[in-house]
Amino acid sequence: MMGNDNYNPSAILRPIVTPILEITTETPRTKAFTISAPSIAKEAVPGQFMMVWVPGIDEIPMSISNVNQDIEFAAARVGDATTRLHELKKGDLLGVRGPLGNGFVFPKTPEEKILLLVAGGCGSPPIAFAAAVAIRMGFVVDVALGATRKAELLFYKRFKGLETQGVRRLVVATDDGSEGLLGTAVDAATFLLDTDPAYSACFACGPEGMLVNLNSLLLKYSIPLQVSLERYMKCGVGLCGHCIIDMEGSRVCHEGPVFDAKLLKESDFGKVTRDATGKKEPIQFDSNAS
Ligand SMILES: Cc1cc2nc3c(=O)[nH]c(=O)nc-3n(C[C@H](O)[C@H](O)[C@H](O)COP(=O)(O)OP(=O)(O)OC[C@H]3O[C@@H](n4cnc5c(N)ncnc54)[C@H](O)[C@@H]3O)c2cc1C
Ligand code: FES
Repeated sequence: MMGNDNYNPSAILRPIVTPILEITTETPRTKAFTISAPSIAKEAVPGQFMMVWVPGIDEIPMSISNVNQDIEFAAARVGDATTRLHELKKGDLLGVRGPLGNGFVFPKTPEEKILLLVAGGCGSPPIAFAAAVAIRMGFVVDVALGATRKAELLFYKRFKGLETQGVRRLVVATDDGSEGLLGTAVDAATFLLDTDPAYSACFACGPEGMLVNLNSLLLKYSIPLQVSLERYMKCGVGLCGHCIIDMEGSRVCHEGPVFDAKLLKESDFGKVTRDATGKKEPIQFDSNAS
């Protein structure tokens, strides 16, 4: 199990109420929100998330997508809370708790310098943050980015911008072939691996079926994979047990959301998730697809 040494109990229990400083439309269904939360910004590492309280609607988990003196998250519009979020304007108030959960563990030894980062669909936020930090730490970074179509490639411009700063190769794939390869983020990763498989680690976030297929691919190359998982969350701090996956009682909000994929073998990974009531639902995906 990956460590979680980043907890600051007062920060995770008490929401900070803070105005939205900036809103940018990133794709037709995703907007990025910048807020000021210095205590979160000081501690956050790539892979961690915040519980974002949308006044009058709900409190929902959102990965941290960037940190400078301010903090950014990017929300796709899918239901009540995210629809309300998309209606908010600069200056409107949100509540945030965090940083929550663990983060990606970067390789330590100098010879382990090349990282593969894979983002599919709405999985770009923690991967964009990981890319920025990895470059600052001196890693060489390759990125595989996938989406249904060109317009949905989240943070595409940002990843392209990093090409001059430390992203060595950026390969994109779209389900409809409107940009890059015809296929998924796993096809983009396959392309990168075919040309140079010398990666010391891979960090990934995206639909769970994609993560399972990526895991099967990387096992062939013996490349260690860390995946960021999503489960329905209520408390976000390990108290309610709603986000438990069947692996020694691990809670995605507390022991995760980032897990070492090889430890997930006996868990719910790629098999079942839970709805808002706690009922188990099978995860459907094509295991023969790449
Ligand atoms: C650790 C983590 C990080 C996430 N990071 C991002 C991100 O960076 N960007 C992004 O767009 N989305 C992210 N999500 C998903 C996001 O939390 C949901 O899309 C959001 O909660 C939907 O809320 P809603 O009220 O708009 O939709 P609803 O209509 O309430 O739900 C739509 C679907 O969203 C999921 N969902 C709803 N509420 C929750 C909840 N409390 N916890 C988890 N899933 C929920 C369920 O699968 C549900 O079927 C993340 C989820 C987790 C667990
Ligand atoms: S959401 Fe309550 S334990 Fe994870």
